[in-house]
Amino acid sequence: MNSSQWYKDKVFYQIWPRSFKDGNGDGMGDLLGVYEKLDYIKSLGCDGIWFSPLYPSPGVDCGYDISDYFDIADEFGGMEAFKRVLDGAHERGMKVIMDLVVNHTSDQHEWFQKSRQRIEPYTDYYIWRPAKADGKLPNNWDSLFEGKAWAWDEVRQEYYLHLFAVQQADLNMDNPLVREEVKKVLRFWLDMGVDGFREDVITFISKKEGLPDDYIMPAAKGFGYFNHGPHLHEYLKEFKDDVFSHYDCMTLAEAPMISPKKALKYIDETADPVLDMMIQFSTQEADCLFTDFVHTPFSLRKLKRAFSSWQKGLEGKGWNMLYMENHDHPRIVSRYGSEKFHSESAKMLAASYLFLKGTPFIYQGQEIGMSNWYPKDPSMYEDVQTRWQYENVGVKKSPEKRLQRLWHGSRDSARTPVQWDGSENAGFTTGTPWFYVNENYKEINVASQEKDESSVLNFYRKAIGLRKELSCVRYGNYEEYGKNSSKLYIYSREDEKQKILVICSFSDKNERLKVPKAFDLEKAELILCNYDSADSPDLRPYEARVYLWGKQAKI
Ligand code: GLC
Ligand code: CA
Repeated sequence: MNSSQWYKDKVFYQIWPRSFKDGNGDGMGDLLGVYEKLDYIKSLGCDGIWFSPLYPSPGVDCGYDISDYFDIADEFGGMEAFKRVLDGAHERGMKVIMDLVVNHTSDQHEWFQKSRQRIEPYTDYYIWRPAKADGKLPNNWDSLFEGKAWAWDEVRQEYYLHLFAVQQADLNMDNPLVREEVKKVLRFWLDMGVDGFREDVITFISKKEGLPDDYIMPAAKGFGYFNHGPHLHEYLKEFKDDVFSHYDCMTLAEAPMISPKKALKYIDETADPVLDMMIQFSTQEADCLFTDFVHTPFSLRKLKRAFSSWQKGLEGKGWNMLYMENHDHPRIVSRYGSEKFHSESAKMLAASYLFLKGTPFIYQGQEIGMSNWYPKDPSMYEDVQTRWQYENVGVKKSPEKRLQRLWHGSRDSARTPVQWDGSENAGFTTGTPWFYVNENYKEINVASQEKDESSVLNFYRKAIGLRKELSCVRYGNYEEYGKNSSKLYIYSREDEKQKILVICSFSDKNERLKVPKAFDLEKAELILCNYDSADSPDLRPYEARVYLWGKQAKI
């Protein structure tokens, strides 16, 4: 939180460390591997890295269950390896942000171990409740991962709240001591030189007083009582005033179920914001209902509404975080694009969001169009949420239907190792990979795309390069055209020097292009296209074009 707002000019690359690159041959991605690839990340035009958790963890939720906030896990190379990566990134002009997971800790964390034994001052570090008189759970809230949100602890003889896995116990943020612990964590990493945080489900940290039963939500009971709770703003402000405001750093908050209007309560730059950016979920909901497991046909109109409402809703007040993929959703080319038109659609999806206003994030493998993973056997899934879904939802359906549900819904599709080349294990490791490599690695990999001028990878490079050269992409206004089209997404960005028109077809057929009246293509320069030429009057399947009027002025 600072006035320089450096994050507005960055393009971030998200690393999910287990599957990025193994540097020591033990089959697990690590920081040695990251160090080897810093120049690669830089070559994309990315100048920021978000690390999913690197801390020591039992790994129930792949690192989102932290057992020590002040260290880096040995399997990733420990603190020394991290400092080398941090310096290496800084030397290359790249910023580094960490994942801050403080809604909950692992049940193996020392705080929890002491809390369950009522050792002071840890007794009230978590949300403990006795069983009700009739032996029932303290309330009817659901966990977002598995069953009810309460687990019984034999040691303490009480229930504790866990909004995620049983082994992820929710911290009691209402306890000032817990907030002081969080501040210590923040200062520790910021003092080391880390440039900010992506704050995991931070909108859940304040629960409604009295933890009432929820009679409103049919599923995900409790959601309205722990999302955007009564003290959320107050606690975020405290973190800002006591810590963030003393550093040149950025904060990015994960915020499920949020509207632009609500987001402005936290990120309005004209009012004393308590956060810099928020991760909204609406652009992830164009082919599902709230969760990827409830699949619906892809709706471009839904996606466009999401993009435009955020572009317009934050205009002049707040800054957008832009993304298509992360470690929590299946791969975008398989969802909003087409595996048949793989290269065309992967590039079009890049163009559809890289020219919007905000700070783009690219998730590892997205830049080569990595696609979904279709295991034959449900037991091959690793993710705790996927496993619970398989065992508990739709169990009466046929085995094929049950498996397909996982193909559509599981975030494990985004967690297979990055496909670096066509050699064994996709060049991810010389050992035995911790997780399955997608079988398509011989066709989709970095090495082959490096050699191909017209690859998805090189398209990303071009698009990011243009983004950095065009002032209208950084500052310009956003306007959408043809809102009703269910096939085309067309938008412009314009400042006083220049304007661009971005045209994206989400159709697997040819589509008639109706150029909005204000745009004379004769006078424009075509600066990006995912086909060899753009002289066809119709748009070809998944075609994307970007036209420029005015000077290509450097920012
Ligand atoms: C966030 C993370 C996700 C994790 C969950 C619990 O949504 O992105 O990966 O499982 O929080 O920490
Ligand atoms: Ca390793």
